[in-house]
Amino acid sequence: MHVLSAVAWPYANGPRHLGHIAGFGVPSDVFSRYMRMAGHDVLMVSGSDEHGTPILVQAEKAGMSPTEFVDQNHRIIAGELCDLGCTYDLYTRTTTANHYAVAQELFRKVWENGYMVERTTLGAISPSTGRTLPDRYIEGTCPICKAPDARGDQCDSCGNQLEPEDLIDPRSKINGETPEFVETRHFFLDLPALADALRTWLEGREASGTWRPNVIRFSLNILDDIKPRAMTRDIDWGIPVPLDGWRDLPTKRLYVWFDAVIGYLSASIEWARRTGDPEAWRLWWNPERADEVGGQVSYYFMGKDNITFHSQIWPAELLGYAGKGDKGGEPGIYGELNLPTEVVSSEFLTFGDQAFSTSRGNVVYVRQVLDLYGPDGIRYYICAAGPESNDAAFTWRDFVQRNNSELVAGWGNLVSRTAAMVAKNFGEIPAPGTLEPIDEELRATVTGAFETVGRLLERNRVKAALAEVMRVVGEVNAYVSRTEPFKLKGEDQRERLATVLHTLVQSVSDLNTLFAPFLPHAANRVHRALGGVGELAPLPQLVEVTGLDEADATRAYPIITGDYASTPRWESVPVVVGTPIAKPAPLFAKLDEAEVLAHWGVG
Ligand code: MF3
Ligand code: ZN
Repeated sequence: MHVLSAVAWPYANGPRHLGHIAGFGVPSDVFSRYMRMAGHDVLMVSGSDEHGTPILVQAEKAGMSPTEFVDQNHRIIAGELCDLGCTYDLYTRTTTANHYAVAQELFRKVWENGYMVERTTLGAISPSTGRTLPDRYIEGTCPICKAPDARGDQCDSCGNQLEPEDLIDPRSKINGETPEFVETRHFFLDLPALADALRTWLEGREASGTWRPNVIRFSLNILDDIKPRAMTRDIDWGIPVPLDGWRDLPTKRLYVWFDAVIGYLSASIEWARRTGDPEAWRLWWNPERADEVGGQVSYYFMGKDNITFHSQIWPAELLGYAGKGDKGGEPGIYGELNLPTEVVSSEFLTFGDQAFSTSRGNVVYVRQVLDLYGPDGIRYYICAAGPESNDAAFTWRDFVQRNNSELVAGWGNLVSRTAAMVAKNFGEIPAPGTLEPIDEELRATVTGAFETVGRLLERNRVKAALAEVMRVVGEVNAYVSRTEPFKLKGEDQRERLATVLHTLVQSVSDLNTLFAPFLPHAANRVHRALGGVGELAPLPQLVEVTGLDEADATRAYPIITGDYASTPRWESVPVVVGTPIAKPAPLFAKLDEAEVLAHWGVG
């Protein structure tokens, strides 16, 4: 099967904090790694989301041009995601000529099919500066739920999309003044003309029963009150509107969300162009190619504040592009394109009892955690305790606790003890004698986990999947306590010792395969501790490239990519008798709780 793993595009407005990677980063990588191991052809794409007003405003604050600002942040974010071990086939950015061309093709065709309608609307300007005031820099009372702090684009209390002129008592977030609303021309996506097609698709998804209940419910609810939505903005940073009379207007640009979601398609196309087979992306996107590749699915990963854009705006763009709404139409050059199969949205990770907030200083940056504790401790934490289907609170105490008692004392200790006993008694993996029922039982438990854990991972139940792997770690530890290999000292017990240690090495090796989607870096260390060579779990690479088109051929920037073909299979692989095993170096570092708490200034 061909699996598109479409991961939300982080804003290039600064380094990532733990809240970001808990929502989209780690869950999408665990899923993609598992699906590759299960034998599927995964295409995992994302990139930096570099347009939009917040970027423009923050660049100005930083005293940089928007281009300098996003260049710097794209480089930082790509480095963090790569070091976290996220196996993107391509992590790119929205300021490439390739992305501009794809976004413009989508806009133009949606317009040609009649789903992009021009209208006069009201735009806010700041009376003191005369500049346009972006929607999200206006706040006021929500006209729907009456929350006092709704933004001009969205109310976080009730989740509804808003227009700034509908806010009660609007005020500028920049300087507090009351904005002035003036007439301006914009293109609106005719969502009502696409609503029936959207509903048919969503009801089909609901019937599949695989979406998280809150996501499907929310997505169906927002259809009831669907309105045309502006897809252009009065701003000079973004993608030009590709229509005569608009193309050259310096202050009319595509709405950042219109272009960002198209990134999934443009990145797939860019990936294909970079591999030298420029049409290869179609195998994941064009439904008429599904049979040829044994089926296609597309999974979209994001935090819950992104649901609307993935279950309504993006599907509406795709339907409009294919001419599949009330007004008919024809697909453009990319043909008919698959709608999302799954919208995998997570809840929020909070910092203790507060939201992560860069501006308020309540923040833990990914880079700090990577440098201090390495990638797998935080990957483990997010998988075990992240906001998969409820908000979750990060605390340092919890992080240390899980690291020490689960990763180090549970898994790390089992690996070390096993390798040390083999090294001491045989120096290599011994040949087993006849298995006893206790050995057979353990083998059945471990091999059975491939089925149970795999079923959970394919449904993105990462937390339950990891808990199941940890349960099996507990079973193997119990096996050691019951068989007591350290007491099998006599010459007449040597065969029994060999059998127990062989069973143990095999079980630890299988567990390591089961852990590989969650803990790829540790999986490679464990692999080598058991006498393996090279890497078990493939790792991504940061590569310096230039743009693919004339307009950006001299622009150099990093992408994340990788060769993941060597990924291990999701199955038990027999260990090889006679493989030398030495006493292992420590595999996981125990953290000193007092030290960690002191470092982060917590009681
Ligand atoms: N940049 C957006 C955010 O961080 C997410 C964009 S996802 C995309 O909320 F699909 F639009 F790219
Ligand atoms: Zn509201």
